[in-house]
Amino acid sequence: MNPRNEALLAADDLHLSFGPTRALNSASLRVHAGEVLALMGPSGSGKSTLLHCLAGILTPDSGRVTFAGRDLSAMSDADRSALRRTEFGFVFQFGQLVPELTCLENVALPLRLAGAGRREAQRDAAEWLDRLQVADVAGKRPGQVSGGQGQRVAVARALVTRPRVVFADEPTGALDSLNGEQVMHLLTAAARDTGAAVVLVTHEARVAAYSDREAVVRDGQVREQEYAR
Ligand SMILES: Nc1ncnc2c1ncn2[C@@H]1O[C@H](COP(=O)(O)OP(=O)(O)OP(=O)(O)O)[C@@H](O)[C@H]1O
Ligand SMILES: [Mg+2]
Repeated sequence: MNPRNEALLAADDLHLSFGPTRALNSASLRVHAGEVLALMGPSGSGKSTLLHCLAGILTPDSGRVTFAGRDLSAMSDADRSALRRTEFGFVFQFGQLVPELTCLENVALPLRLAGAGRREAQRDAAEWLDRLQVADVAGKRPGQVSGGQGQRVAVARALVTRPRVVFADEPTGALDSLNGEQVMHLLTAAARDTGAAVVLVTHEARVAAYSDREAVVRDGQVREQEYAR
C-alpha cells in the first residue's frame, strides 16, 4: 500500500511570501491518520508558517492544502473555523491558555464552543486533566501553575474534543528537559490512544525522538523522509 494515497492532511506546492521574504517556496507534505510527524529545521526555515497553512490559519499565496480530501482554500471562513474547532487541536510554546479562566474551564472551553452543556464539558475536562496528571490544578488559573503543568493543561485542552490532528509548535520549547519529556510522553500517548495525528515542530532531537517520522524544512521547502509501513 502506498501511504501517499491515504494522507489525511496534505500540502501541495505551497508558496507564501511576507513582503520580500519567501517563507514557503514549493513546500509539500503528507500527514497520515494517527502518525506523529516531527518538523525539524533551522530557525526561519518556514516551519511555523507551514504549520499555520496546514491548520488553515494562514492561506498560502498558491498551492493547496487538503484535509480528508477537502480543499481548505475552497471553504468559507466559517467552515474553515468550524473545521479547526472540531477536527484540529493546538498546543503552542506558551501563552495559549485564557488567563481569566481556571485550568478546568480552559479545558472545558472547546467543548462549550462546540455546544456541550456546562456540566458535561466540565466532567470531560476533569477526566482529561486527570489523564495528563494535573487534576490538582483544576481550580487554579494559568498564572498560578508551573510551566510544565500549564503545558499539560494545554495538551488536555487540545485533545478534549478528540481532534483528528493536533498541531504542536515547540510545545516543550519553554520547559526544562524533564518537564519536556513528560509533556511529550503524555501528548504522544494520548494522541495514540485517541488516534489523533500530531504535527510537531521542534528544534530538539530528544523531542523529535517521540515521533514516528521526521521531515526537515529548509528554505521554505520540505525534505520528507520516505518510510516503510
Ligand atoms: N507575519 C510575518 N511577517 C513577516 N515575516 C514573517 C512572518 N512570519 C514569518 N515570517 C518570516 O518567514 C520566514 C519563516 O518564518 P517561520 O516563522 O515559519 O520560521 P520557523 O521555521 O518557524 O522559525 P523558528 O524556528 O525560529 O520558529 C522567516 O524569514 C520569518 O522572518
Ligand atoms: Mg517557528
